[in-house]
Amino acid sequence: MSMPKWLENIVFYEIYPQSFNDTNADGIGDIPGIIEKLDYIKELGCDGIWLNPCFESPFYDAGYDVSNYKKVAPRYGTNEDLKRLFEEAHARDMHVILDLVPGHTSINHKWFQESCKAAKNEYTDRYVWNDDIWSDFGQDESIMGSIRGFYERNGCCAVNFFSIQPALNYGYAKCTESWMQPMDAPGPMATREAMKDVMRFWMSMGCDGFRVDMAGSLVKNDEGQEATIQLWQDFRRFMDEEFPDCALLSEWGNPGRSLRGGFHMDFLLHFGPSHYLDLFRVEEPYFSRRGKGDISDFVETYKSNYEATNREGLICIPSGNHDMPRIKDKLDDEEVKIAFAFLLSVPGAPFIYYGDEIGMNYLADLPSVEGGYHRTGARSPMQWDHSANAGFSSGEPESLYISLDPSENRPTVQDALEGRIPLYDEIKKLIAIRKEHEALQSTAPMEFLYAEKAAYPLVYKRTGKDEEILIAINPSGQEATCQVAAGTGKGVIYSNNGEAVLENGKLTVPAASASFILL
Ligand code: NOJ
Repeated sequence: MSMPKWLENIVFYEIYPQSFNDTNADGIGDIPGIIEKLDYIKELGCDGIWLNPCFESPFYDAGYDVSNYKKVAPRYGTNEDLKRLFEEAHARDMHVILDLVPGHTSINHKWFQESCKAAKNEYTDRYVWNDDIWSDFGQDESIMGSIRGFYERNGCCAVNFFSIQPALNYGYAKCTESWMQPMDAPGPMATREAMKDVMRFWMSMGCDGFRVDMAGSLVKNDEGQEATIQLWQDFRRFMDEEFPDCALLSEWGNPGRSLRGGFHMDFLLHFGPSHYLDLFRVEEPYFSRRGKGDISDFVETYKSNYEATNREGLICIPSGNHDMPRIKDKLDDEEVKIAFAFLLSVPGAPFIYYGDEIGMNYLADLPSVEGGYHRTGARSPMQWDHSANAGFSSGEPESLYISLDPSENRPTVQDALEGRIPLYDEIKKLIAIRKEHEALQSTAPMEFLYAEKAAYPLVYKRTGKDEEILIAINPSGQEATCQVAAGTGKGVIYSNNGEAVLENGKLTVPAASASFILL
């Protein structure tokens, strides 16, 4: 399986468009605002952008409820603006992937409204419907509820996430009721082609691929997900034929399945079996100086997923995202530095969530906005400087669609650029080192050398074409030692808070430090 060349050495930056940069003073971010800040992102060292949904939507789920897949939401600008974003990014040797939400639409989507009509029409089978308004979907795990009773059609429509997100119909792997349709029935086939049409629309305009929302959820009653994998293989064939340089990234959390489906990259998720939360977000995270964390379960699951990639696709570990508390919730800046030494030295494509590079806080008490609930606190406006509204918007403070971090010493980009945020400098340095050493990039092999239960340090090796690098990470506040099969180090190419020493296999790692050692 081939991968677009640009993924081999990419560092992504996730932009939540609502909260990044507002250029028309309406209190909400926009696409011209993103264009204005491309140089900032590039300067940090990131050359890929994942943009959360920016399409027309009633925003009951922050845009993951699309009402028109081919139109930029007016609050963000126009399709022309988005095209300009692609062009401006490409001019800087950057790539932009959009968020594709193929599993569901908004109830406001024209397809759904047509689908609700009693009389048969082109969209009757666009969504997953049963044929009896009085009977729900029962215990089907892939269906999160049903929409019923406010239309003339006799039937319930399956819900994919919130109740305003009806499930698009890609068919059933196993049909056990008369209303279930097989994947190759005309309705599901038409949905599939409609989604390709959406993808084609944006890729023709210059986008570089998609992060795919809930990618594993499309085919219903699909135990083992073989049918869903087949479906994605078909999408991938279409991309290979028409847009071979575009990338596909899944929100699936199972690279053994997603990569077989043709995805180039799969996110390591903060839910499900990954143990991602053990790193940064449980009561005693591994990356806390208290040194009471345990990384072993994470490593075990990671290893089996990594083996499943067969080094033909990438696992993407994010610093955070719009769905979970920020990394700063449980860690301080010094601890986050060590966390980034890890995030930027593992294989795959790293993802930095906007604002994490300056240490933005998680605002636990913010009231829910646009279906955010506890996620809202990780979605507050970017803090650019110390002017009004932290430079995010020149609108009235009350117009901001989510409140800013009220703390007096909230970090800003201005502070970072003027040298007052060591965390920012460290992340920038780490990205630069990754970019210089092929052994640290996306596909160079990795092997864990020390990752024991409830113990420190964490040690792994990356093997490049012409060098080997040992990464020694000790987040705990105590010096840590271990024996590794690695001989004697030939020099330290990166260290934060003291250098680790490797002599005849004995590794000594200073408290709260990270080192990259040439072997
Ligand atoms: C995952 C997205 O990241 C999340 O924000 C959204 O609410 C759900 N999928 C539903 O689309």
